[in-house]
Amino acid sequence: MTGIPVPTSDGIHYLPRAPKSLTTPIGLIGCGGISFQHLSNYRDAGFNVVALADIDRAKAEARRDEFYPDADVYANYRDLLARDDIEVVDIATHVDVRPSIVRDAILSGRHVLSQKPFVVDLDEGRELVNLAVEHGMQLAVNQNGRWAPHFSFLREAVAAGLIGEVTSADFYVYWDHDSDFADNPAFNSMEDLILYDFGIHWFDLLANLFRNRQEATGVVAMTGSRPGQKMAVATQAQVLIQFPAAQATLLFRGATKVQQRGGYEVHGTLGSLSHLGEALGGTQIVWSRPGEEPETITVTGTWWLNGMRGTMGELLVAIEEERAPVNAASTSLPGLALCFAALRSSRTGEVIDPRLPLPTVHT
Ligand SMILES: NC(=O)c1ccc[n+]([C@@H]2O[C@H](COP(=O)([O-])OP(=O)(O)OC[C@H]3O[C@@H](n4cnc5c(N)ncnc54)[C@H](O)[C@@H]3O)[C@@H](O)[C@H]2O)c1
Repeated sequence: MTGIPVPTSDGIHYLPRAPKSLTTPIGLIGCGGISFQHLSNYRDAGFNVVALADIDRAKAEARRDEFYPDADVYANYRDLLARDDIEVVDIATHVDVRPSIVRDAILSGRHVLSQKPFVVDLDEGRELVNLAVEHGMQLAVNQNGRWAPHFSFLREAVAAGLIGEVTSADFYVYWDHDSDFADNPAFNSMEDLILYDFGIHWFDLLANLFRNRQEATGVVAMTGSRPGQKMAVATQAQVLIQFPAAQATLLFRGATKVQQRGGYEVHGTLGSLSHLGEALGGTQIVWSRPGEEPETITVTGTWWLNGMRGTMGELLVAIEEERAPVNAASTSLPGLALCFAALRSSRTGEVIDPRLPLPTVHT
């Protein structure tokens, strides 16, 4: 007997936390496609959205009418920030205009939840992180994938030591981003659609699995198209990541017309966790250990439900508890560094060290 407690799957808390108070006033800036997931899940969670802003006022009005009929609507986000009641600003514009809005929101004394990808440049990300610290505000990123049930369980289980030190982590996703976004001009011409705009969830998760344990030393990535895809940009990508004592792979097949699915195999010194589900995950995870029957763990919820409640809920809980949230913007920088290394590698064909400074991404 060593006296060290043996972790069990029951002790893994993967569900989003709810704040004690649901009254914190929230303002949302950017009422495009993804705001549907924000608002429908916030409404169901009972969060208090009091104002919506979009340069296209009709979009904000439509979201107000559907989800928060008592909310005020603004075409200029500065009018939303000029109110003195809003405590949390949720910013769901694209990254091209988002950092300056994040800056304005922090300077106006608000806590911020920024959509992902957080920034196109790590220096800008650090500057925003420091700005929030200087002003005593919490700055979090909507890396909602962290709370998708199959990912959240994995993240918490690895942190709890369920499989020991991670020795390999392999993820794949077969889905049809191509058909979903072929007619959307904001996405269908984005050069780094798959590795950056979509893939950031996987880089973020991977970086979190290794956080405070090992730092990646090399990244190789390739992107490509497939016959029959509708978009002009690459829809497929593959990434190899080298750690001092582990290896990882990410496989993105973004123009999959049949058999859409996603999964992972994450192995460690004490066992493994594996998953096969829908593209954005399912509910069964298998925990394998030497000398034991594999245990199937059933998780509940969905990518969007748990993800949107997870990110905003965690920010609200962190504000109540006067601590940094799990999704603090500082924690999204290591995943971005891996992603930027992959982008660089996909352009140069070289192995890129993610610890070195990298040029700004042009999406
Ligand atoms: N977390 C996720 O899983 C997830 C999923 C989808 C999209 N996203 C991210 O959300 C962001 C937005 O995506 P989308 O699909 O909603 O895009 P979209 O193009 O549908 O919407 C963007 C909205 O921002 C508005 N906007 C632009 N500039 C503005 C400004 N200065 N003030 C107020 N509003 C402004 C536009 O009018 C538009 O309504 C992107 O960064 C995308 O990567 C995240």
